[in-house]
Formats: sequence, structure tokens, C-alpha cells
Amino acid sequence: MGKKPFNRIILIHFLKMDISVVGSGYVGLITSAGFAEKGHSVVCVDIDPKKVDMINARKPPIYEEGLQDILDHVVPDYLTASLDLEKAVKESDATFICVGTPSDNDGSINLKYVKEVAAQIGRVLKEKDSYHVVVTKSTIIPGSTEEHVIPVLEKESGKKAGKDFGVVMNPEFLREGVAVEDFLNPDRIVIGSLNDRDGNVIEKIYKDFKAPVLRVNLKTAEMIKYTSNSLLATKVSFINEIGNVCKRLGVDIYDVSKGVGLDHRISPSFLNAGPGFGGSCFPKDVKAMVHKAREVGIEPILLESVLEVNARQPKIVLERIKMKYQLKGTRVTVLGLAFKAGTDDMRESPSVPVIEGLVEAGADVVAYDPQAMENARQELSGISYEKTQRDALAGSELAIILTEWDEFKKIDFSPMKKMRVFDTRKILNTDLLQKGVEYEGLCW
Ligand SMILES: NC(=O)c1ccc[n+]([C@@H]2O[C@H](COP(=O)([O-])OP(=O)(O)OC[C@H]3O[C@@H](n4cnc5c(N)ncnc54)[C@H](O)[C@@H]3O)[C@@H](O)[C@H]2O)c1
Repeated sequence: MGKKPFNRIILIHFLKMDISVVGSGYVGLITSAGFAEKGHSVVCVDIDPKKVDMINARKPPIYEEGLQDILDHVVPDYLTASLDLEKAVKESDATFICVGTPSDNDGSINLKYVKEVAAQIGRVLKEKDSYHVVVTKSTIIPGSTEEHVIPVLEKESGKKAGKDFGVVMNPEFLREGVAVEDFLNPDRIVIGSLNDRDGNVIEKIYKDFKAPVLRVNLKTAEMIKYTSNSLLATKVSFINEIGNVCKRLGVDIYDVSKGVGLDHRISPSFLNAGPGFGGSCFPKDVKAMVHKAREVGIEPILLESVLEVNARQPKIVLERIKMKYQLKGTRVTVLGLAFKAGTDDMRESPSVPVIEGLVEAGADVVAYDPQAMENARQELSGISYEKTQRDALAGSELAIILTEWDEFKKIDFSPMKKMRVFDTRKILNTDLLQKGVEYEGLCW
């Protein structure tokens, strides 16, 4: 009995590693917090001093459920943030690259930030004696690790990948809005590596995660990520297109989705029709896949259509609203700005084209979102914001629901006798609507 705690301490110590994470945005910070929560010692690095200060002060720079609790728990004993990449790499066993990989104008992926960071890490590796594993977690197009990341690391370090230092590609599948939960309880962990030794190091980091581990080569790991996102985006565009047909036929897409999603071969996920997908991943990842497919001589007809259907969806929202309501000089309340519930992320949110169209049509737009208003102010001009949904709704006769936040489900519209509601997500509790009030949807 007396021996147990002692053995456990040795075991925990043996399994825990020193990790550095470069880029402390959505993926980098959640990765850092998640590994720290599992007992690893983590330093997350960013070039933004404000972010670094906030993390060290246990203030999450992004909104994600559960993140505050973890930061309270792990900072500073297991997690610290820093501007000093050199020190972080020197003092760790593995470095995860989690910087952004935006789209270039032609849709291809821009590896500028990944390559910059790889070069910095390479320069540190030049001076480092112990074996270090460099892991790319950023989403990078198949072939990127071998064609770009490794050459940069080798050039700057003067050392050989797979011999003097390790290289791994470990794609991240978390969903914003439930990112902490997803990171800590993944469906699978994909580890693409140059050799078994490197993969083993990273598998050890994930030892306490209860998920199947798939060991593949670097390019396959990269392809798994793009295939997953392309398929999920395809599901969304598919159901939106069927939803548009349903609307014309007088059929409710949400009943259809339920009936379809109960088929275990299909699953109910990503079958909720709405104003289209957004965020930092699906649009750019599908575009990058389209570009890569063309580069290798394949015309990606299906993926092109996925993007086309998605670009059309906010326009259909606007068409429906314009057909039905007089907008010029009308106060219109937009409920929901983030591209999905649970996040403050406005990147590629369908709310942007919808609101721009409303403003262009002369509407006086007042918006409310529980988390995304600060970010929205940088994207949208010519509209006003209110701190509560009640204030946003006061004096309006038309409310448009764009994001599926839980708090909108409970809005009591019953005292608002003249209110008309256009709900692109079908989330309202209709018992709370005044009888006879106009309640209309996008795909139902
Ligand atoms: N957001 C998601 O839901 C998600 C999910 C899975 C994968 N991904 C992928 O993960 C990657 C990162 O995405 P994100 O949403 O976290 O991006 P992000 O823009 O939120 O974060 C990137 C961070 O990197 C920092 N940075 C840039 N250059 C740096 C440098 N030289 N040194 C240190 N820090 C630097 C930025 O300041 C920023 O904080 C992308 O490739 C993305 O496709 C994102």
C-alpha cells in the first residue's frame, strides 16, 4: 500500500514532458492548456505581447468554454506564455508549430508563418545537443512538411531530419466552440512521422488521452486533415442545398435531417442547414484542396461546388429577407455574429455578407452576440451594437437569427407583438412566440 504513491509519482514524472508550442491562437493555446492539464510542462510562445500577458494573467485571449478553468488551474505551474522562442525551444523536448496558414489570393495555402517559425526553430537546433522533435499542428497541404518544413529546418540547423532531430505532423481536429472538450477527448490522434522514434516521442505526450492513435507517414497525416475538413464542408453545403429545395417544396429540412441522420452510415453531425459554413478552417482548407487537386491534374468538381453553394447561401438569406420585408429605414436586429455558437471567432462568418447586404438595402442594423461583438467591430461598419439581446430587440420589428447561441432559444418574444422573426437556424422555442407572429426560416 505504502509503495503505491511513490510508484505513481515516478510514473507520472516519467511520462511528463517539457513542451513548447509556437503560436498561441485558437489551436496553440488550447493545445498548450490541454497538455498542461495532462501534467506536461508547457511554454506557449507568441509574437503578440498582449496575448502573452493575458495568458500569464490567466485571462483567455479567446472565448472557449472551459478554457478559463484550465488556465486558473495550470498557470503558472504547468503553463507559462512567453515571447522568447529560443529559450522555449532550448528548454523543451518537443515543439508544436501552431501558427496560422491563411489562403493566398489563388486559394493556395500560405506557408509564410510556418516557414518563419521553422527557420527560428532550426537556428535554435543548431546550438542544441539533445534530440528535439518538431511537430507541425498547423493545417498544411499534403507534401508541405517534406517540401518546405524539413528543408528549412535542415538549412537553418545544419543538421539532418530523422537523424539529428525529429519531425512529426500531428493535425488538430478540434472544433471552435467546444475546443477544450474536443482537444481533451479527441476521436483519434493522428501522428505522421519521418520514423518510428519521432512518432513514439509524440505518442508518449498523448499517453493519457483515451483515443485511438493512428500512425502514418507525414503526407498521409496532412491528407487526413484536409479530407476530414473537405468532407465536413461537403456535408454542410449538401444539406444547405437540399434545404433550399425543401423551402420551395414546403418541407422542413430539420425534420428531413433528423430522418437522414438517424442512419448510422450518415450520422446527424453537420446536417444542420443554415447560412453557410465559416471560420478559419473550412473555407480556406477546401480552397487549398481545390488548388492542390488542380496542381496535380485533377479537376475538383465536387469541392468547387461545395464552395459555390457556400458562397451562395448568405445571398439566399438576403434574397428571402428582401422579398419578405421592407428594409429601407427599418430597424433590424441581428442576433448572432460569430460563425458558429460557442466562439467569438468572426473569420469568414456568414453574418458579414448578410449584414453588409442589409446595410446596403438601407436597414438600420443593430447587432448583438454574446461573445463576438468586439471582433465584429473590426469587420463591420455602419451598424450599432447593444450589450444585451433585450436592448438590441427594443424598438425593432424584425429580428434575424444568424448564430445558434443557446441563449436565443429562450428569448421571450411574447411581449413583442409586432416582432417578425427570420430564423436561419430554426432554434427558437415557438411556445415563447406571440401567437400569429411571423416566424419564417431559411430552409423550412
Ligand atoms: N481554429 C481552428 O478551429 C483550427 C482547428 C484545427 C486546425 N487549425 C489550424 O491551426 C492553425 C492555427 O490556427 P488558429 O485558428 O489557431 O490561428 P490563430 O490566428 O488563432 O493563431 C495563430 C497565432 O500564431 C501567432 N504567430 C504568428 N506568427 C508567429 C511567430 N512567428 N511566432 C510566434 N507566434 C506567431 C499569432 O500571433 C497568433 O496568435 C492553422 O493552420 C489552422 O488551419 C485551426
